[in-house]
Amino acid sequence: MQVIDGNAIAKSIIEELTHAVGGLSGKPPAVAFIRVGEDPASISYVRKKQKTAEQIGIQSSLHRLPEDVSKEELFEKIDALNADDAVHGILVQAPLPAHIDETETFNRVAPDKDVDGFNTVNIGRLCQEDERGFVACTPAGIVELIQRSGIETEGRHVVILGRSQIVGKPAALLMMRKAVPGNATVTLCHSRTRDLAAITRQADILIAAIGRPNFVTADMVQDGVAVIDVGINRVEDASRPRGYRLVGDVDFAAVAPKAAQITPVPGGVGPMTVAMLMKNTYQAYRASHI
Ligand code: GUN
Repeated sequence: MQVIDGNAIAKSIIEELTHAVGGLSGKPPAVAFIRVGEDPASISYVRKKQKTAEQIGIQSSLHRLPEDVSKEELFEKIDALNADDAVHGILVQAPLPAHIDETETFNRVAPDKDVDGFNTVNIGRLCQEDERGFVACTPAGIVELIQRSGIETEGRHVVILGRSQIVGKPAALLMMRKAVPGNATVTLCHSRTRDLAAITRQADILIAAIGRPNFVTADMVQDGVAVIDVGINRVEDASRPRGYRLVGDVDFAAVAPKAAQITPVPGGVGPMTVAMLMKNTYQAYRASHI
């Protein structure tokens, strides 16, 4: 059994990008972050993304707007960044306040600067296997982990748990692409799926993205399965200084002995998302220089 080291794989992607960006001349790749309000998790996510950008040599800027900002003001800011040729990628950090529609906001970002891959145009491009598209960072990270861990996908059965817009659905589209990795037989399961365990037991590759701690148990997988655990769930743990610990959607201790490969939580898919955001920013920069 191999525990897939997401930290190490993310680190090699960051090193590759650092090398590529180091060889560029002229204005560097640049990404702009928009953060509305003071949500502590958003502050920490954006800080991490900016720090990684800086490490690579990607320029970043942070545009902070108050919690009560109007939709019009937010959209003016997005429009200004869309029009700025020195900005290659734009990311509006979610969650947004309730009075601002997230889908409408993501669609305001120019598709060719949408490094989050949340724009309707980019979801369409993914569906049509158009390589100009940006793929959302978490599903893109899953694919990269699978590829760099040497897990074959062609002709194999990939079972995905969860139909979310930003993980399950795009992961299914990626796995069924006529590409490497891809060419898989995909089954997408969700909360209404009947006899779930009978389906998950047929998985050669199981991708769990449902947000329920330790949901996948040993009896739900076959021997030799590759398990990608996308869940990040807090469970109470009085022995930890913070009073909780992070667990995935998979009962790691029980499932790992049956698996050929498995991602841990933390340290699996998580670190890949920031690396893929940087890769998307570099892709946006390259596309703007053709
Ligand atoms: N909030 C939590 N994750 C994400 C993400 O990947 N992108 C954006 N824009 N906001 C988020």
